[in-house]
Amino acid sequence: MSTPMAPYQPKNILITGAAGFIASHVANRLIKNYPNYKIVALDKLDYCSSLENLGPSFSTPNFKFVKADIASADLVNYLLVAEEIDTIMHFAAQTHVDNSFGNSFEFTNNNIYGTHVLLEACKITNRVRRFIHVSTDEVYGETDLETDIGNPEASQLLPTNPYSATKAGAEMLVMAYHRPFNDKRYFLDDQKLKRLGWEERTSWEEGLKRTLDWYTHNPDWWGDVTAALYPHPRASLVVCWGNFAVKVGLNLSMGGQDWENRSSIVEDVRKVRPSHVFNAAGVTGKPNVDRCETHKVETIRTNVVGTLTLADVCKEQGLIMVNFATGCIFEYDEKHPQASFYSKTKAMVEELMREYENVCTLRFQMPISSDLSQPRNFITKMARYDKVLNVPNSMTVLDELLPISIEMAKRNLTGTWNFTNPGVISHHEILEMYREYMDPEFKWVNFDLEEQAKVMVAPRSHHEMNSSKLKNEFPNLLGIRESIIKYVFEPNKKT
Ligand SMILES: NC(=O)c1ccc[n+]([C@@H]2O[C@H](COP(=O)([O-])OP(=O)(O)OC[C@H]3O[C@@H](n4cnc5c(N)ncnc54)[C@H](O)[C@@H]3O)[C@@H](O)[C@H]2O)c1
Repeated sequence: MSTPMAPYQPKNILITGAAGFIASHVANRLIKNYPNYKIVALDKLDYCSSLENLGPSFSTPNFKFVKADIASADLVNYLLVAEEIDTIMHFAAQTHVDNSFGNSFEFTNNNIYGTHVLLEACKITNRVRRFIHVSTDEVYGETDLETDIGNPEASQLLPTNPYSATKAGAEMLVMAYHRPFNDKRYFLDDQKLKRLGWEERTSWEEGLKRTLDWYTHNPDWWGDVTAALYPHPRASLVVCWGNFAVKVGLNLSMGGQDWENRSSIVEDVRKVRPSHVFNAAGVTGKPNVDRCETHKVETIRTNVVGTLTLADVCKEQGLIMVNFATGCIFEYDEKHPQASFYSKTKAMVEELMREYENVCTLRFQMPISSDLSQPRNFITKMARYDKVLNVPNSMTVLDELLPISIEMAKRNLTGTWNFTNPGVISHHEILEMYREYMDPEFKWVNFDLEEQAKVMVAPRSHHEMNSSKLKNEFPNLLGIRESIIKYVFEPNKKT
């Protein structure tokens, strides 16, 4: 949306109002001429629509029809993510001028609010590259019969009936969504007002000064208003893990560093006024969890005290906290117990968190991302080791699952969730993919568990997690192998 003219190849196109007169022709033609595009045709099937219009497209594999109302924000958000929509062609509208003189609220709801929902969904999901908004000639109002000069695009919008007024309103929203910042200057001509005899008695500078003085001398009138000085609204408060905000493409706020300190958390929450709190902070040990064995108090302070304090403040403030937890609290089997100090702190805190009904615990396991320059990335680590283990594990593909964590917050989901892609994959299989996609010359040597135990201070956690609860909530969640190929290796492919 921010670079509307940048060239790109559309893949998955959402067409709204697709069972109507114009959009059905567009959908049928795209299906016929562009078999590489997936077309998701959406329509609420109002009185003026007919599925017959889409007859030629129904039997083709790259076509999907969804009966839905664009005014349903949850559904539209879900569809954009689930169908990986990169392009929207927005035709849906109440279109019959005569009807708009009767039930005009229907026109406002479908044409303005519906368009608004689509635009907001594009902003939130941050995946749509182009939004094509279909408007109407009627936004300019009636054209004089005598004139032979047409209205250029920049003509003033002067709608003359409720239908065209709602189309003009939608157009203005579309224009406003390309500029997510405040204007610098508004300058009005006040001559007409002055001709009535009005003139200002207080200069602009003097008025500002008096306003400031009033707030300074009346601190009790509104209470503490310093929060108004911060840019807002903010979507959420993220504590510590900066990468998270970048990955999901949201304008998130960061909590302060001193976050196990209760008053500093309260202060952050007061300033930011978040809708949700994401806690991705934790001591995981650098270069690896062995460090937690020798820095136990530091580990407790962040992983236990900090996390609990944050959950408690959130509860007090009526906020949901999405807690990025770990699957490393489980053991592989009796022979290979988990006993690292890091895992212990995580297991303890998770048990206590169950008492907080405002917490959504997401158990990540061996996170993988497409950013292969990130040294903590599981694949980057594996490719650097001289010897690697070969155990099947559940894993979390961040590129797929981080946006899902945002969606979970929006759905206000709480409780405990195994936050991994379904299925398991071994180190060996991943390195084979690495060789296939990245480096045909790549070689590695396998470790066995006994050999590993000799060089590592803390035992490592390997196991399968059952992610069926997550899959039920997000049916399009990919299996671990497909997800790694799609999100990590395909975008980084070098061979
Ligand atoms: N037909 C014209 O002469 C003309 C002229 C200029 C502009 N337009 C614009 O072109 C677009 C398409 O017009 P058309 O003539 O094909 O209209 P149409 O009435 O035939 O089709 C509109 C479709 O939108 C669907 N729809 C309405 N509200 C919806 C909602 N909330 N959610 C999902 N679907 C919804 C309806 O069911 C219908 O299938 C409209 O935006 C219209 O303003 C049409």
